[in-house]
Amino acid sequence: MSNNLFVSGHPLVEHKITQLRDTTTDFRQFRSIVAELSMILAYEATSDLITRRVEVKTPLTTTTGSKFDERVGLVPILRAGLGMVDGMLSLIPQAEVWHLGFYRDEETLQPVIYYNKLPEDLSTHTCFVLDPMLATGGSALMAVDILKRRGVTRVKFVGLLAAPEGIDALQGAHPDVAVHVAAVDDRLTNAGDAAAGFPPGFIWPGLGDAGDRQFGTR
Ligand code: PRP
Repeated sequence: MSNNLFVSGHPLVEHKITQLRDTTTDFRQFRSIVAELSMILAYEATSDLITRRVEVKTPLTTTTGSKFDERVGLVPILRAGLGMVDGMLSLIPQAEVWHLGFYRDEETLQPVIYYNKLPEDLSTHTCFVLDPMLATGGSALMAVDILKRRGVTRVKFVGLLAAPEGIDALQGAHPDVAVHVAAVDDRLTNAGDAAAGFPPGFIWPGLGDAGDRQFGTR
């Protein structure tokens, strides 16, 4: 794995990701923990955003400070990525939010696009692709492909759980894309897990389906 992978080692992140894994965490708790984790990961993933020096008048004197005023795009992948938007916006309230909707074909595990609300003008400094789960990497890869084809030059991926297979796929195709996640799990489920009732392509040990667990649809 490349040096463009950032796995948060923060104790609060480890605590919260453990809560997400727990089957007794209900969807209301799950949603708020996703938002909290997204805020912490946003803090980590924005550590190299560019600021400019500005003059600021304090009650006592005038001094210099920093101002961040780049155009930032948040690109949540529907549906599960929606839950990460508010946490990111709480740190970068000026960010624009551009939705992409993908679902994963259950047979092929390939992403299928059903919604694209990117604006005409994508002249941003940084775009953050948001999706709690990086499984095969197909969805993240498709999102990055779309953004780069539209001229975006700086893309970061922010997620919660990743499988090594997904990281390899995304970084193999886009080594320039920084990947920020809360944890990297062991593997993806495969055909061998079917006998135990687990469909292929799920992150193991994982947390289940992040969309269903946030929105209470299972
Ligand atoms: C899940 C997840 C990612 C994708 C990850 O979405 O939220 O978008 O699968 O898998 P990949 O890395 O193999 O592409 P899902 O299809 O369950 O849709 P949902 O968000 O609407 O639940």
